[in-house]
Amino acid sequence: MGPLGIFDSGLGGLTVLQQIQKILPELDLYYLGDNARVPYGNRSFETVYQFTREGVYTLLKAGAPLVVVACNTASAKALRSIQQLDLPLWQKEFNDGGPERRVLGVLRPTTERAGTFTQSGHLGLLATRGTVESGSYTTEIEHFFPEITLYTQACPLWVPLIEEGILQGPVAHAIVQADLNELCAKAPAMDAVILGCTHYPLLAPLIRDLLPKNMRIFEQGPLVAQALALYLQRHPDLSAALTRGGTIQYFTTEDPHRFDQQASRFGGHHVQSQHIELLEP
Ligand code: DGL
Repeated sequence: MGPLGIFDSGLGGLTVLQQIQKILPELDLYYLGDNARVPYGNRSFETVYQFTREGVYTLLKAGAPLVVVACNTASAKALRSIQQLDLPLWQKEFNDGGPERRVLGVLRPTTERAGTFTQSGHLGLLATRGTVESGSYTTEIEHFFPEITLYTQACPLWVPLIEEGILQGPVAHAIVQADLNELCAKAPAMDAVILGCTHYPLLAPLIRDLLPKNMRIFEQGPLVAQALALYLQRHPDLSAALTRGGTIQYFTTEDPHRFDQQASRFGGHHVQSQHIELLEP
């Protein structure tokens, strides 16, 4: 038995953690941010797979029966390989009579709801370059809702801005405006936008200011948390393996003091993290 693990390249997964905590406040949580190697968004498939594999394995070894990869880039580029190639091998290591360890991502909870987001059938996706180039959103939305056209926009500078805490002001304004302009030019009938990176809710106030007033903007935290609650209902064994004391432990691959300062700004409450070295499977 152990806490639910939540993994992200950096601070973005905290936007998912907050929503999970809201819906399932009794769960114990481990949060792991690979802040030493953020951003993942501009890295190759192999690199994102290797980094994510280490992060997930470290959380499983720390005792998490279930891990949520709260990062779109990692979910798009690494999740399937981890689920299909790595987990079956690792299960033997964790053969302790408990349920099979599982790893979930953030794409599916988002794409399976996309039909409710748009009325015009023209939907936008703002995401990292890695997520956009993986084509995963386009494939999944086409599968669930063939009537929807998805317009994608890579925003390679947004995660570095957010990790630096630059959420407003002329620099943030100029960078966000340029990417939104490109997306809007491609998709004149678009009426809704998915923030397809868990970091982006931090820029939501600015994005809202810069997009037309009637544009609907969807953040993933609530979608992922709701999907997780339903998943636990369908998997009572796994649910029973999650400890319930309402605690959160934060781990970072960078300097914990820096993480604490940034994370406290994110969530508005006091955070105390520990440094962790990731394990190689
Ligand atoms: N939060 C990650 C995501 O959802 C950011 C990826 C990055 O590190 O660039 O894609």
